[in-house]
Amino acid sequence: MKIAIFLLAIIGIYIVPGCSNAQSMSSKKILIVYLSRTNNTKAIAEIIQKNVGGKLVALELQKPYPENYQQIVAQVVKENETGFLPPLKTKIDSIENYDVVFVGFPTWDMQMPPPMKSFLHQYNLSGKTVIPFNTNAGYGVGSGFETVKELCPNSKVLKGFSIKGGIERDGVLFVMKGEMEKEAEKEVKKWLREINM
Ligand SMILES: Cc1cc2nc3c(=O)[nH]c(=O)nc-3n(C[C@H](O)[C@H](O)[C@H](O)COP(=O)(O)O)c2cc1C
Repeated sequence: MKIAIFLLAIIGIYIVPGCSNAQSMSSKKILIVYLSRTNNTKAIAEIIQKNVGGKLVALELQKPYPENYQQIVAQVVKENETGFLPPLKTKIDSIENYDVVFVGFPTWDMQMPPPMKSFLHQYNLSGKTVIPFNTNAGYGVGSGFETVKELCPNSKVLKGFSIKGGIERDGVLFVMKGEMEKEAEKEVKKWLREINM
């Protein structure tokens, strides 16, 4: 009898909190907002959704960027210098209903792209868990994750995920397919486990 009570106590201490944690995570409402020009960040967003569920939303601008790479680079540099926030065409209904918001963006000009800055300025994510992710041409996320923390001062910002994507400058556009996609999925899953998602 004593042994049975002892075992029940152990189960109560170690197993039940684990279960209730898992349950509370799975009952959270998840939003995955991303910006993607050549679909690499979109592919990561889709892998995240496949693994944790939630609603996927792509950010679109009222006035789209130029197709030409040199032109978009010049425009983004100018927007970053002046602090211009391009108006979004995308509207998100009832953002207050979400508990967890993943925010995904490519590195542009070694920063967070202006449209994602527009999103984080426009929508109040206070009290929510915010989880950033990124693709880049091999130079890393730059200041992007720091900017997430600055623009979400009242959110719980978790460790971000960053991976090499395309290199549009060299004509390398969408790369998240075949082996690259499988490798990316492995890394995303490892990161999601690390952050208890
Ligand atoms: C305007 C612009 C600026 C970029 N600047 C950088 C940069 O500073 N560093 C970097 O590593 N990649 C840079 N890139 C490359 C993208 O981050 C990379 O190709 C990314 O995977 C694209 O994501 P997407 O396919 O979701 O659009 C830039 C791309 C564009 C279009």
